[in-house]
Amino acid sequence: MAITIFDHPLILDKLSRMRRKETSSKDFRENLNEIGMLMVYEIFRDVKLKEISIKTPTVKKAKGYTIETPVVLVPIIRAGLGMVDGIQKIIPTAKIAHVGLYRDEVTMKPVEYYAKAPADIDSSYTIVVDPMLATGGSAVKAIDIIKSKGAKNIKFVGLVGVQEGIDALQKAHPDVDIFLACKDPILNKHGYIEPGMGDAGDRIFGTK
Ligand code: PRP
Ligand code: URA
Repeated sequence: MAITIFDHPLILDKLSRMRRKETSSKDFRENLNEIGMLMVYEIFRDVKLKEISIKTPTVKKAKGYTIETPVVLVPIIRAGLGMVDGIQKIIPTAKIAHVGLYRDEVTMKPVEYYAKAPADIDSSYTIVVDPMLATGGSAVKAIDIIKSKGAKNIKFVGLVGVQEGIDALQKAHPDVDIFLACKDPILNKHGYIEPGMGDAGDRIFGTK
């Protein structure tokens, strides 16, 4: 399916603030949430609307709209959690499914430690969020997990990705649209993106 790289000036400005080594956890989190919000705002441009009838203070019947399909956000714990607040600000009814994964430091393969999804995920518009798409292993595994729970209409939203991760995700889940704020050139031998922004989870939660 489609891959969209935003490369939008507002997003690139915020992303550069996040990349800087000296940026505090607070600023890192704020910019991450804002970018998540901006990306989802744009991604929702083509979401299905249902027409409804509403009353306003001046008329008894006016045409209104509501988003028809329930929305489920799936942050990949930990770093994906850093995008939830920003997106929920603009979609307050979104439910949250959690998938907990960490990358084994030697094999770089994702290890699952938690998974919980709402019962109606099968009929929802499901958005998997994680700032980093490196080898792609975590995104592939998270989507395997939510598909096993019934999710069908799935999008992946990340900030920084590399070609290796994009290829892995497209190969494993060709039905999933991929949205990235930008694409970086290098996945180093330790599985980190260059220039990237370091370990996103550690930067969000101040663990290093
Ligand atoms: C980071 C990041 C992604 C994953 C990306 O998580 O948040 O989930 O690495 O790498 P991949 O594409 O090679 O799988 P990490 O495993 O460091 O866990 P954390 O979020 O708890 O820090
Ligand atoms: N996970 C991160 O947090 N950063 C990277 O650069 C790669 C994977």
